[in-house]
Amino acid sequence: MTHRISCPVLSSRITSAAEAVTVIRHGDNVGISGFTGAGYPKAVPTALHDRMVAAHAIGEELSVGLWSGASTAPDADGVLAEAQGVATRLPYNSDPTMRKLINLGQVDYIDAHLSHSAQHMWFGFYGNLDVAVVEVTAILPGGLLVPSSSVGNNKTWLEQADRIILEVNSWQPRELEGFHDIYYGAALPPHRRPIELTEPMQRIGEPYLRVDPEKVVAVVETDLADRNSPFTPPGQTSNAIAAHVIDFLRHEVAAGRMPADLLPIQSGVGNVANAVLAGLDGSEFTDLVAFTEVLQDGMLDLLDSGTMRAASATSFGLSSLGVQRFMDNINAYKGRILLRSEEISNHPELVRRLGVIAMNGLLEADIYGNVNSTHVMGSAIMNGIGGSGDFARNAFLNFFLTPSTAKDGAISAIVPMVSHVDHTEHDVHVIVTEHGIADLRGLAPRARAERIIQRCADPAFRPALLDYTARAWAQRPTARHTPHLLDEALSWHQRYLETGSM
Ligand code: COA
Repeated sequence: MTHRISCPVLSSRITSAAEAVTVIRHGDNVGISGFTGAGYPKAVPTALHDRMVAAHAIGEELSVGLWSGASTAPDADGVLAEAQGVATRLPYNSDPTMRKLINLGQVDYIDAHLSHSAQHMWFGFYGNLDVAVVEVTAILPGGLLVPSSSVGNNKTWLEQADRIILEVNSWQPRELEGFHDIYYGAALPPHRRPIELTEPMQRIGEPYLRVDPEKVVAVVETDLADRNSPFTPPGQTSNAIAAHVIDFLRHEVAAGRMPADLLPIQSGVGNVANAVLAGLDGSEFTDLVAFTEVLQDGMLDLLDSGTMRAASATSFGLSSLGVQRFMDNINAYKGRILLRSEEISNHPELVRRLGVIAMNGLLEADIYGNVNSTHVMGSAIMNGIGGSGDFARNAFLNFFLTPSTAKDGAISAIVPMVSHVDHTEHDVHVIVTEHGIADLRGLAPRARAERIIQRCADPAFRPALLDYTARAWAQRPTARHTPHLLDEALSWHQRYLETGSM
């Protein structure tokens, strides 16, 4: 037994990654751990890549269905995509190589709400889960697993897979034990019970993942870092967006619509999200709490300064510096950070009950407030819907945040009609760009259009948007609820494809 593996049964299964992947067969569905580049398996995917390349070289087929918690990293999604070894992928991807294959039509991508991925698996929509490959921090004497830097769908993959490979990563701090809350009360309808979580930091589960040792076919030891993407300090545009959000929150508190310490915060990853978190850090708000998916550098700052008292998430999404900071002070974060399965971190029942404030990015919004978070020019996937729908649809208040233009001003983030809809006008509360904020709550479509164009669109695109709206109103006097010019509605996208500018 090694210092991280103290279960005799499972320590007898320690083997190399190359040996472990021999249990994976052509056509298998493989459920891997991993969420936002944290806690994904780091040795098995590369070994599987090598096996795939060798098999393909002699004309043998070897490809799998790849399921995860969410995004992984170049040494997981990336290497398997490079090996041309993935037939289907779900429920979320941000890896550029995998994205390219999806958009070339070589990988079938099932882009699902993250809170739905585990239940869709139990419902049987995805087929059988043949193999789970799950990174853990340690294996305890009774075979209980100390989870790693993300939880994602690991509980479900371990319960449902026929065969299991565990990666025990000694790079993950051993002190992660105690940071997790794994809920085992989920059931299928009609046996579902209320999830008794009424405060973000309430523990409703166990600190460990369970596994049936009989199903564990291999244990692989690693000592490899998470992806830990570099942190870019917020730019001017992100800071302007953040300032609008914080002003708006002040306004909501003053209007008596939320308490002075706000409501639980969910924040997507990326530059704009980090800017909002940084803005909160310099503000008068204190005693904040997060009920979110990913704990990023900006949230660590809030925890460090004491502005945020605690955070519930399913994953870390830290830079290398953020990880170092976390590791250096790990004991101080214990009890202030909880990692849960994504079916709980993103659960609509909980998001609705807790009254979460959701903040997510978008690619484009239309004049009536429909939001596209996933598709470039209607057809090419960017990443996926992730948790944005879980949170936005059920939030007490949701923000969609974006620069007003993309690609150096060639693309307007505000268009007459979105080329793909992820969040319908009914679900979108507040749109924010660097120019301003459009509160759409309680407005009819034409008032929404006026507000979005005047407050959020880039000034260079405003006249054309106003002109479109006016002509749409004039064209069909009996269809003025949400007026559109159907032959022109997507002409902005078409023009971009033809000329490189909207
Ligand atoms: N058309 C085409 N490309 C666009 C675009 C548009 N309307 N708007 C933005 N882009 C491009 C940008 O140019 C940039 O491209 P680059 O990487 O080549 O520079 C890229 O999309 C990302 O845009 P950026 O402005 O940097 O925003 P971001 O990093 O905040 O990402 C989303 C925005 C929508 C892609 C991202 O928020 C996302 O994937 N959302 C869905 C999942 C989600 O919300 N999860 C939240 C729960 S954690």
